[in-house]
Amino acid sequence: MNLVNVAVVGASGYSGQELLRLLVRHPGVELVCVTSRQYAGRTIGEVYPRFEGRKFARLKFTGSDAAAVVASGARFAFLALPHGLAHEYAAPLLDAGLRVIDLSADFRLKDPAVYEDFYGVAHPAPQLLSRSVYGLPELYRDHIRTASLIASPGCYPTSILLPLIPLMRQRLIDPKSIVAASLSGVSGAGRKTEVDYLFCECNEDARAYGIPKHRHLSEIEQELTTVAGEPVVISFAPHLIPLNRGMATTIHANLGPGVGIRDIAGALTEAWKSEPFVRLKGETGSADIKNVAHTNFIDIAWRHDPRTGRVVLMSAIDNLVKGASGQAVQSFNILGGWAETVAL
Ligand SMILES: NC(=O)c1ccc[n+]([C@@H]2O[C@H](COP(=O)([O-])OP(=O)(O)OC[C@H]3O[C@@H](n4cnc5c(N)ncnc54)[C@H](OP(=O)(O)O)[C@@H]3O)[C@@H](O)[C@H]2O)c1
Repeated sequence: MNLVNVAVVGASGYSGQELLRLLVRHPGVELVCVTSRQYAGRTIGEVYPRFEGRKFARLKFTGSDAAAVVASGARFAFLALPHGLAHEYAAPLLDAGLRVIDLSADFRLKDPAVYEDFYGVAHPAPQLLSRSVYGLPELYRDHIRTASLIASPGCYPTSILLPLIPLMRQRLIDPKSIVAASLSGVSGAGRKTEVDYLFCECNEDARAYGIPKHRHLSEIEQELTTVAGEPVVISFAPHLIPLNRGMATTIHANLGPGVGIRDIAGALTEAWKSEPFVRLKGETGSADIKNVAHTNFIDIAWRHDPRTGRVVLMSAIDNLVKGASGQAVQSFNILGGWAETVAL
């Protein structure tokens, strides 16, 4: 198999490390550049002993510099950087002919005004927004195949969109009635030192945050609006829970007139029956974090509540895999022409 040269920018963070874990076992990948400012000059194996003895363990981190990524000969680059930095790398890498998969929220929104509304600053590179493809393979596989810039979705949006979209497509629910709540492990906040994420602050605690206008609402509503063909606004309550990784989401919505549980099951099955990473757990199963941790699966279960006339959708993902790096590798496989499940 021909190998392609790949770079990971921001390779020392949580999603960067997860990318390394997946790319190490990808038979088509030659990792040629990994960046980190704090670990520049040290090898992957030194910094992260779990990679010792594995392919690429002796590759040294370089400082985070777009010119160094281009000079490495990489043809594909993953960007796993904190919010707001991706454009500094994406623009020069795209100019140099690389295909870029960005894990941040920087290129997920089509409308720069919505970006400014939710992120509080003008978009730094609006010209790239029209070029990017929202990297949810279950929805945009054909667009991903030919894209040069992939905006890989966030973990909350993935956990909400995949259960909801089949029901929206078939107009089985009232789009004005959607309420979602998610529980996220602490790695969702990244590998940074902030008091809120210290062990003693998170352990034995659970708290809601980002209410009522979490930033990820912007991309969730963008995608639901596209499917519904009318503006969709939803209520969303994210929570931080004391797990290293994993995300559980529960969504409530009013069923349309005459819609029953069979219609719900039929829509989800029809939409996702051929998807390699969507597991439908049905109206008696459950969506548990422990069953998806360290995997690229999303588990989806559902119930009908005849007392309220609502459907309850439940999903579980690993925020670092289907919610970040696994999904990015899934898109990379589509871009590169590999089977979508390779390394996953
Ligand atoms: N964590 C998740 O569950 C998750 C899920 C979905 C999407 N995402 C998105 O993925 C991106 C990365 O998230 P993460 O959780 O992996 O973050 P993280 O753990 O904080 O890692 C950030 C990485 O970027 C580097 N970095 C930080 N500041 C930099 C700067 N100013 N210039 C260049 N490099 C810099 C860091 O290394 P050095 O400091 O050594 O340079 C590190 O390698 C974020 O945009 C996040 O929103 C994360």
